[in-house]
Amino acid sequence: MHVIGGTASTALAERISRELGNAPFGIPFTKRFPDGELYVRVGGRLEGDDVVIVQSTRTDEDLVELLLLEDAIREAGAKRTFVVVPYFGYARQDRRFFPGEPVSARALCRHVELDADLVVTVDLHSAQTLSHFTKPAFEASGIPAIARMLRERPIDLLVSPDKGGIERVRRMAQLLDKPWFALEKKRIDSEHVELSLPASLPGPLEAKHTVIIDDVITTGGTIVEAAKLLKKHGVGAISAACTHGLFLRDAFERIKAVTDEVFSTDTLGNPAEKASVAPDIAQILRRESPS
Ligand code: R5P
Repeated sequence: MHVIGGTASTALAERISRELGNAPFGIPFTKRFPDGELYVRVGGRLEGDDVVIVQSTRTDEDLVELLLLEDAIREAGAKRTFVVVPYFGYARQDRRFFPGEPVSARALCRHVELDADLVVTVDLHSAQTLSHFTKPAFEASGIPAIARMLRERPIDLLVSPDKGGIERVRRMAQLLDKPWFALEKKRIDSEHVELSLPASLPGPLEAKHTVIIDDVITTGGTIVEAAKLLKKHGVGAISAACTHGLFLRDAFERIKAVTDEVFSTDTLGNPAEKASVAPDIAQILRRESPS
C-alpha cells in the first residue's frame, strides 16, 4: 500500500503511512499554470498497488487538488484508490434550508467518490452525510485521539457546548471515566451564541478542571462563551479541545485568552494540534482493505 499526502495533509499522511507499517510515502509535485490552474504529478510505481491519498478539503483549492490526484492515481494504474478526507469541507450544508439551495455535502460526496474505491473521513458535521456516498465510506472519530492525550492530565469534568455534542462527550466520558454535562446553546448568528447551564449538573463546578469538547472550532465564538460561563461559575481550569481546528481570524488568540489550554487533532494543520487521528484512520484502512 502506498500513501500520498496532498498539500493540505502532508504531515498526517506521513503519520498514517507509519501506522500502516511504514508504507511507501510520497508527496505529489504541484505547480500553478500562469492562469492559476493547478498542475499535479504523482511519482513512484503505483501500478497494481493500493494507494491511499490523504487530503483535507478546507478550501476549494484543496478540493480541486484532491480530484486531480485521484485521477492521476487512477491513470498511474493503481489497483484501488482509498481516499482519506480528514476534514470534509462543505459538510455543514447537509440539507436544503431554503428553496434554491444545494445539499452541498451530498454534491461533494458524489464528486469525491468518483475515482475512489473507499472513502474515510473524520467527525463529519452530521453522520447522515455518509449516506450520500454510494461507495464504501467510513467515519473515524477524533474522540479516541483526544482521550489518549487527556489520559495523562488531571481532568475532573467534561463539557459539551451544546446538546448536539452529547454523543461525543458521552463517548469521551466513557473512555476517561469522568462525569460530563452539556450546556444549553442558542445560536444568535454565525458568529454569536448564547449559552447557559443545564437544569442539573453532575456535581459542583467550583475548582474543577474542565475540558470543553467540540467537533469543530471555527470563529471560536462557542468556546469563548462556554469558557466565560464556566469561569463565572467558579471552575478551576479550562481546556478547550476539538477534532477540527479551523481557528478563523483571531479565534486561537481569543480562546487562549479565556482558557488554560487549547488543542485539536491533526485533521487540519494548526498551532493547537496535539493529538493525531492517524492510528484511527489506519485502523479503518487495514480493516476495510483486505488484499
Ligand atoms: C456546532 O454545531 C458545532 O458543533 C460547533 O460548536 C460550531 O460549529 C463552532 O463554531 P464557532 O467556533 O464559530 O462557534
